[in-house]
Amino acid sequence: MRTRVAIIGAGPAGLMLSHLLERSGIESVVLEVRSRDHLEQRVRAGVLETPTVDLLRAVGLGARMDAEGMPHEGFSLRFDGEDHRIALTELTGKRIVVYGQQEVVKDLIGARLAAGGQLEFEVSEVELHEIESGPRVAFTDMAGRRQELRADILVGADGFRGISRDAYPVGAMRGYDRHYPFAWLGILAQSAPSHTELIYAYSDYGFALHSMRSPEITRLYLQVAPDEDLARWPDDRIWDELRRRLALRDGSFTLTEGPILDKGITAMRSFVAEPMRHGQLFLAGDAAHIVPPTGAKGMNLAIADVAVLARALDAFFARGDDRALAAYSDRCLRRVWRAEHFSHTMTTMLHRAPTGDPFDGRLQLSQLRYTAASPAAATSLAENYVGLPLTGVAP
Ligand code: FAD
Ligand code: DHB
Repeated sequence: MRTRVAIIGAGPAGLMLSHLLERSGIESVVLEVRSRDHLEQRVRAGVLETPTVDLLRAVGLGARMDAEGMPHEGFSLRFDGEDHRIALTELTGKRIVVYGQQEVVKDLIGARLAAGGQLEFEVSEVELHEIESGPRVAFTDMAGRRQELRADILVGADGFRGISRDAYPVGAMRGYDRHYPFAWLGILAQSAPSHTELIYAYSDYGFALHSMRSPEITRLYLQVAPDEDLARWPDDRIWDELRRRLALRDGSFTLTEGPILDKGITAMRSFVAEPMRHGQLFLAGDAAHIVPPTGAKGMNLAIADVAVLARALDAFFARGDDRALAAYSDRCLRRVWRAEHFSHTMTTMLHRAPTGDPFDGRLQLSQLRYTAASPAAATSLAENYVGLPLTGVAP
């Protein structure tokens, strides 16, 4: 087999890249270890920042998002037992849309298949060879046949636990890493959201987040220990803990409960691989970098990477101009590090360290109070949260 761009991984990064390349008339093949069904059910991110929303609309993927997604113009920082609204739209003129990642993935898979795109699900034993020149990918297809795919360009969009990053030769990559002493326990519940907006809550008992997927479905998260065992969290304990952390001092907040449809624990870590390219292999999305989820940036960064990469590949294949490909890593890393900083700041501001250092606690409260009271501080948070433009400003 031969193609122009071989894409490893059918997450938001790989699928979106394949979709964007199709629009430029560039052929690609996407290889994915999981089944289509698994990808379409996997509950993960939910917040689409403005540039992601704009891009989805611009490339013909906005219809269901606009019909079913929930636009938000602000969210609550809840601390000291009170709500402090961050008025995103008032402060920045922009809105975010809450629309589940698996819905974005469904829309992308649907569009790729409708266009006759080649998506190979349930492949195994994927190996990257000759990434510096004449790259090829060996894999076993769904039917058990060993295949070889030759390509001009390889794209590693296989997430944080994929194999692409390991294809760099020894010494060609530098990794920057930060572990956090907590994880998130996330649930999806069949219950109406308890508030019209997202709530990021800082409490004596740890962080909690109230989000949603539809008028009938709530998405909630709790800070837990990094090695937490899900078996220790029966449904009642989860609801008790959410109620405790999300409580308002005047008792006016009622958490709507319902059957729990999905439950999982996510470790929290920051990681960046530099550079995002070696030879003909380009990394995109979680394969190159991850953020703790508190700033809701992971999926948005994945989409931003491939928006840059698709334009660079267009210049390369249409005119043989490789300048944008040469600039790909530096260009993406500026945005990546901005999101790394923002996600780290949100994470350290809102979570309780297990040691409960009282000095840190006072610093957190001071930062929260300042963010809520100062339009300058709130605007800075809001500007990062709604997302910096895909083009132009890369601070
Ligand atoms: P992935 O979605 O991980 O896709 C990679 C794909 O590659 C997977 O389908 C995988 O099966 C496949 N793969 C792996 N190995 C191989 C292989 N060897 N060969 C072929 N295929 C392979 N981000 C946000 O922007 N906003 C949020 O609100 C948000 N909240 C989150 C909440 C939680 C609980 C979690 C877990 C994450 C959240 N994120 C959020 C992060 C977001 O989900 C990820 O950043 C996003 O999925 C990255 O997309 P990706 O395409 O780079 O990688
Ligand atoms: C969601 C996830 C996040 O990481 C976040 O910061 C906000 C919302 C969500 O899944 O809805």
